[in-house]
Amino acid sequence: MAVIENSKLTVVGAGSVGASVAYASLIRGSARHVALYDINASKAEAEVLDLAHGTQFTGSSDIIGGADISCVEGSHVVVITAGAKQNPGQTRIELAGVNAGIMKKMMPQLLEVAPDAIYVIVTNPCDVLTVLSQEATGLPPERLFASGTVLDTSRLRWKLGQRAGVSPSSVHAYIVGEHGDTEFPLWSHATIGTVPILDWVTPAGDKMTVEELDQIAIDVRDAAYKVIQGKGATNYAIGLSSARIVEAILGDQNAVLPVSPVLHDFHGISNVALSVPSIVNAKGAHPIYETTFSPSEMGLLRRSADALREVAGSLR
Ligand code: 2OP
Repeated sequence: MAVIENSKLTVVGAGSVGASVAYASLIRGSARHVALYDINASKAEAEVLDLAHGTQFTGSSDIIGGADISCVEGSHVVVITAGAKQNPGQTRIELAGVNAGIMKKMMPQLLEVAPDAIYVIVTNPCDVLTVLSQEATGLPPERLFASGTVLDTSRLRWKLGQRAGVSPSSVHAYIVGEHGDTEFPLWSHATIGTVPILDWVTPAGDKMTVEELDQIAIDVRDAAYKVIQGKGATNYAIGLSSARIVEAILGDQNAVLPVSPVLHDFHGISNVALSVPSIVNAKGAHPIYETTFSPSEMGLLRRSADALREVAGSLR
């Protein structure tokens, strides 16, 4: 499949996350056309106007939107951000009940107007909402997946890059599992350039220790809590992460990103959406089944799967 011509992205939800996804996508030129849909007409229309006023300076130039669902028509990608957001101290999982109800109502409506789109779920808890939506819609798993730990992976690479004295893009490391409290880094594959993470000599002349890496993993896991405590929400980094995923789809890039599709016999794990390194292209997300895990990493992945399965089960 070739790069999609005249590509259209719709962002559902004009809150701070949705507006940031649209903003990042416009600036990066992630899609030719961008739409912002929200049932709150005045909010959606105001965000669209504000974004449109800057399009002299952006990569993409076309932004529309409002409360009329027809603005979603013709979308190649739909990024869903609508729903209740985390309050300070609240976990993502605590949003499951209310946001599952919203998704249940919204997904059939969206599918009616954009039956061929690829759906990326950002609303939290994104992994749980993905498995429930996939079951409800019957969409093939590659066409409906969560943004998952693409954001957490970026947080990890930023932190490691700072310590290692290299650009985050030269850090090769992934956070996998739940986008939430049971997520973990795949340290067995972490390198700076080609150098295994524990062998890298930092600008300070030392090497990172296992204890230090454990603390970095905790900081990454808890990063959103810290930001939410300070400003009430996270929005910029998830906006950029989502735009990156959109580009991988619309550019048919075969990019390896840790998104979260429903897994089928991924090292024995099935019927749960979890982030694992996946190839993302115009057909959607395809888990890389050859990814290896150390025995302890496999235990952590199973722990994430069990935790998410339990939450999804309680909502069926
Ligand atoms: C984040 O990780 C809250 O899931 C959101 O920033």
